Amino acid sequence: MLQFSTGALLLLLLLQGLGVLVLGEVSKDFSNCLDFFYNKTPPKGISAAGYQPICQRYKNQYHFASLYDRRRRIPLYSAYMLSSPDGKRPSTPWMYEPQLAFSRASPEMAPFKIPVDQNVIESQAVLQDYKNSSFTKGHLNPSMHQKTKVDREATFTLTNIVPQQAGSNSGPWSTLENKVLSKFKDFCFGSMYVITGAMPYASGERWINNRVSVPEYMWSAYCCPTYNTSLPESAQSFFPTYAAVGRNDRNSGEEIVPVNVNVKRSVRGFDVREMPVETLESILKQRLAMPISLFHEQCQ
Ligand SMILES: *[C@@H]1O[C@H](CO)[C@@H](O)[C@H](O)[C@H]1NC(C)=O
Ligand SMILES: *[C@@H]1O[C@H](CO)[C@@H](O)[C@H](O)[C@H]1NC(C)=O
Repeated sequence: MLQFSTGALLLLLLLQGLGVLVLGEVSKDFSNCLDFFYNKTPPKGISAAGYQPICQRYKNQYHFASLYDRRRRIPLYSAYMLSSPDGKRPSTPWMYEPQLAFSRASPEMAPFKIPVDQNVIESQAVLQDYKNSSFTKGHLNPSMHQKTKVDREATFTLTNIVPQQAGSNSGPWSTLENKVLSKFKDFCFGSMYVITGAMPYASGERWINNRVSVPEYMWSAYCCPTYNTSLPESAQSFFPTYAAVGRNDRNSGEEIVPVNVNVKRSVRGFDVREMPVETLESILKQRLAMPISLFHEQCQ
């Protein structure tokens, strides 16, 4: 009997070990989805505690990568390769990440089941958090920056979402997303690697439903190492890499992003400031107290 149970225990341990090896969705690093980073190199300088790498897997494929902040229940960033969208925004149910709740759950994002399991609620943001808030569900990797239907559907996971003011989401931030797409189409010859993230308040952090952190700013940077070198002069500073920070609170100070008061009321105070990547990195360094380097060797 003793022998049997020892054998069973060993078998169990072996299976557990295999399970850990086979599944790679939520893991200690991005080793299963390095292709979404320029030169297969994720941002450097982010201290690991509390941040969970997720290789965003859907319909048996990886689509992008997110670094999930477990305490804030939002991604710190999502990293992806941009491509021109084919067709319109898919209508797809919102999804969650099963492995944030159970490390041995399915490695694929999945639609929410009703009622939502308590372990899922504790481990991540759920639709209810957003339902009772005045915030929209803001994509970091937007569906309009993905080509295929499946790639676009995969962006509809709450681990790619932050609470974003409607005035930003459908205003200046959406304009920025369109501008980046145009730069890709007009001047970028190879891949464009994008990292888009959330910047928390310096103090007095805001939350929805006392659970999900509201970013004070959104930020984004791209790296397009192979581009049309006979660019018009006006576009030269935008390559190979450029960045932007967008306001997500119209009452924020103007040190990081100034406000243009001559725009229509619905979008006033949600300005986006475009800037070199080094400027964004120095803002992030100060705000997150981490010396972040977004792209390998500054994408040069
Ligand atoms: C949403 O807000 C309403 C009104 O404030 C409240 O009655 C309800 O319980 C809230 N629902 C959840 C799930 O928090
Ligand atoms: C590169 O840009 C120049 C100037 O805008 C344009 O005339 C040329 O056709 C572009 N080259 C390619 C290969 O797209």
